[in-house]
Amino acid sequence: MTKLAKRSWAEPFKIKVVEPLRMTSREERERALVEAGYNTFLLKSKDVYIDLLTDSGTNAMSDYQWAGMMLGDEAYAGSENFYHLEENVQKYYGYKYLVPTHQGRGAEHLISSILIKDGDFVPGNMYFTTTRLHQELAGGTFVDVIIDEAHDPQSLHPFKGNIDLNKLEALINKVGAKKIPYVTVAATVNMAGGQPISIANLREVRELTKKHGIRVVLDATRAVENAWFIKQREKGYEKKTIAEILFEMCSFTDAATMSGKKDLLVNIGGFLALNDYDIFEEARNLVVVYEGLHTYGGLAGRDMEAMARGIEEAVQEEHIKARIGQVEYVGERLMSIGIPIVQPSGGHAIFLDARRFLPQIKQTEFPAQTLAAELYAESGVRSMERGIVSAGRNKETGDHNYPKLELVRLTFPRRVYTQAHCDVVTEAVEAVYDRREEIRGMETEYEPKYLRFFQMRFKKL
Ligand code: F0G
Repeated sequence: MTKLAKRSWAEPFKIKVVEPLRMTSREERERALVEAGYNTFLLKSKDVYIDLLTDSGTNAMSDYQWAGMMLGDEAYAGSENFYHLEENVQKYYGYKYLVPTHQGRGAEHLISSILIKDGDFVPGNMYFTTTRLHQELAGGTFVDVIIDEAHDPQSLHPFKGNIDLNKLEALINKVGAKKIPYVTVAATVNMAGGQPISIANLREVRELTKKHGIRVVLDATRAVENAWFIKQREKGYEKKTIAEILFEMCSFTDAATMSGKKDLLVNIGGFLALNDYDIFEEARNLVVVYEGLHTYGGLAGRDMEAMARGIEEAVQEEHIKARIGQVEYVGERLMSIGIPIVQPSGGHAIFLDARRFLPQIKQTEFPAQTLAAELYAESGVRSMERGIVSAGRNKETGDHNYPKLELVRLTFPRRVYTQAHCDVVTEAVEAVYDRREEIRGMETEYEPKYLRFFQMRFKKL
């Protein structure tokens, strides 16, 4: 008798409410794609079968969170839920001050406009679309200081999110510390494939920046997932709790921007958290202009309550183990049939390597965008381009940015899909892979000015 493979990541919950899925025919999907200009962002949700576009705001909330929604204190000022959120941000993330925002980019807008002056440079471990745009709109230039391994989909480095200290130091020497208001440290690094940064690296970044009086701002959007990787991979952290690791990670930084729509298991919400009172004072003032009063920041009281409770659930060991276990399960299945993906598999997603999947398509003919469209046509599975389209255009020259990574992201909402859904997804990818040689690229039909990937339209060549 052969033994069953060990299943160590079963969901630590059972299902109480269900939402029916709609299957479509190939003809319906072809029509939907034409209407959407072959951009999966422009598809209607009703035409999608399994939605792996993003893990952002697509999470299933728990009964504990839904119960909290009923306790929403919708006072304009001083909502009870704000104080609960503040208490949990202090307890789990360790920052002193909290400014709620409607989502992550609201916090990015505040911190960028407060700290960045025209002509400044903002180093970071790979760009994120909204983060970089807010830095640029504030007059700054983003500089990528992530380690080289992060740009190599086949590198098995355990912490591909790490900052290359030589690159960071070289920038400081070149432009001077006065021109660097802060370093953005993302944990995990979304565009690198959901790859983590190590505690050792965070500590070193802290030491180097401290010497030069430069602040560190954490993008804490998926920091809990990062903490899980530290627990698995970093010596000395095996026995620590996720909550302890998260707290320690934050201790090396001065502030954090947060999209609660990821780690924190809610559908909307975010915050800026800070230790410096003067910056907090200014952020608290500015948030009134752009988001709402400083005790709600564009959120309903019930949303703040759901996020406060989400913080408590996000750090539960069984939750995070199953969350990342599911992503790894898909990664292992795809690798077992030879599909090229970014390795090691990331925290929130599996990234198909479109360069190796569709080597016949030039980068200017959008291989990853094409692959995302083909996967949808095949199966109704919606994914997202993370390649040349997402990378946008160079601020100075207007030419495309040409990222090394040309990827399609299969992003897993938390607590939403089952292992059977995962199997359907891998079969769909396999079916596209089997006919990969017939696939041709695309050209631009329409391109918007900002964050083009959201609304750009394409035509088949
Ligand atoms: N930082 C990271 C690392 C993110 O992944 C996101 C959003 C943000 C900031 C901005 O947060 O959407 O709440 O304003 N990422 C989503 C995604 C959109 O699909 O990866 P937001």
